[in-house]
Amino acid sequence: MQTLTPNQGVALAAPMIYSLVTSLDANGRPNALGVSWVTRTSLDPFLLMVSIDHSRYSHAGIDFHKEFVVHYPSAEQAEAAWFCGSRSGRDIDKIKEAGLSLIDSVAVQVPTIEGATVAFECKVIGQFETGDHTVFVGEVVATRGEPQKAGHLYVTSNYEFFSLEGSRVPSR
Ligand SMILES: Cc1cc2nc3c(=O)[nH]c(=O)nc-3n(C[C@H](O)[C@H](O)[C@H](O)COP(=O)(O)O)c2cc1C
Repeated sequence: MQTLTPNQGVALAAPMIYSLVTSLDANGRPNALGVSWVTRTSLDPFLLMVSIDHSRYSHAGIDFHKEFVVHYPSAEQAEAAWFCGSRSGRDIDKIKEAGLSLIDSVAVQVPTIEGATVAFECKVIGQFETGDHTVFVGEVVATRGEPQKAGHLYVTSNYEFFSLEGSRVPSR
């Protein structure tokens, strides 16, 4: 085996899942950011964790309200999903400009993105600092989805999106 740089290793470990995480800012304004660092971390209770850079606008909102919703966007939401991962809600109304629609969630104040393949509503039960990110651990308090869509997005180390079936999805 060859010795690699961390970045070369990360490239070989691709693709990563791509999720959209909604939150509310301190004024109650909704926002969404793209997150690859997301995973289940317990079966019972059902826990998810997301790792959010301290500098993200979403970080302050999740820290303030202690709620977030993790979505796996459907393939047709690729362009909007890319937008949410490349612009900050600090400057713009990202949801509106991305053309996403929000619906009320079932068990949290943070809204859900309509039409996502699956959405996990989470209440923060713990958080800890990991270098330049905070890991927020959320208990999943409601789950909704679109079983007929059964497809979501993966991202390569070159930031290209792929669908579950392996075809490249235009994003930018
Ligand atoms: C493919 C991809 C994966 C990303 N994964 C993460 C992540 O896991 N954690 C994170 O904090 N930011 C991640 N980002 C960056 C944020 O989505 C991006 O900085 C966004 O503009 C932050 O929005 P906000 O400032 O409105 O919160 C990712 C972006 C892309 C395109």
